[in-house]
Amino acid sequence: MTILTDSMQDNVERAANLLRDAEHVIALTGAGISKESNVPTFRGTDGLWRKYNAMDLATPQAFNRNPDLVWEWYAWRQNLIASCMPNPAHNTLAEWERRGLLQALITQNVDGLHRRAGSERVYEVHGNIWAVKCISCDYRDRLHEPVQVTPRCPHCDELLRPDVVWFGESLDSELLGHVYEELNRADLCLVVGTSAVVQPAASFPLVIKNRGGIIIEVNVEPTPLTGAADLHIDGKAGEVLPAIDRALLSLS
Ligand code: OAD
Repeated sequence: MTILTDSMQDNVERAANLLRDAEHVIALTGAGISKESNVPTFRGTDGLWRKYNAMDLATPQAFNRNPDLVWEWYAWRQNLIASCMPNPAHNTLAEWERRGLLQALITQNVDGLHRRAGSERVYEVHGNIWAVKCISCDYRDRLHEPVQVTPRCPHCDELLRPDVVWFGESLDSELLGHVYEELNRADLCLVVGTSAVVQPAASFPLVIKNRGGIIIEVNVEPTPLTGAADLHIDGKAGEVLPAIDRALLSLS
């Protein structure tokens, strides 16, 4: 168990009190929550977008230009993610859902680690790295292992692409409808491990804030959301979330 500084422990206890008193809690997560599972983040010192050009790998134009290259990159990430396990932060959120403390989980992550940890009410707003769809017909499928060669549609023989949201693309409108229903019900948003720079997800917590709700942010650095947060806890998700859980248990 990590030993927390006094100020961190104060913040953890404040978070536990706020969570206990809230009626409808949702969480918004980003790549930082999976960092301690060894999934690379996108920004920051060893982030993927420092090493790779998003415009060559994560846009519809890039896929049209060079589908093999895009699939090679996704296959590399699929292999990497297949060997990663949920960490204590994922597990804590799954446990809070089971205990009725967390009503929904909105994630920008495509790694599927929240579901593997046992979370069920998960909205994967940027898609899932194991999902594929045909670029021509309605065919969709889930892969069970990393791709080895650029896959083709079993119905029309066109190319399959990763069913994730690329730069310049919109989020699924039906999914977004459910997300906004949650945002309009929630009175507390726990924001974990996101740089809060990619829209519309970056603004989700503000919907709650603008209705008088509370934002608690857990991150190892400040973000554009920090100013709006009622509480910013400066620490690693895999340490802070279990610490909040221990504080919650000692309140009850
Ligand atoms: P980013 O890589 O932009 O940000 C990761 C955040 O996690 C940063 O703010 C870090 O400070 C924080 N962080 C790192 N380690 C942490 C830890 N152990 N505990 C807590 N926080 C930690 O990732 P996202 O915000 O998720 O889009 O990026 C948003 C979107 O941009 C992604 O979904 C992806 C990317 O382009 C698509 O793929 C569509």
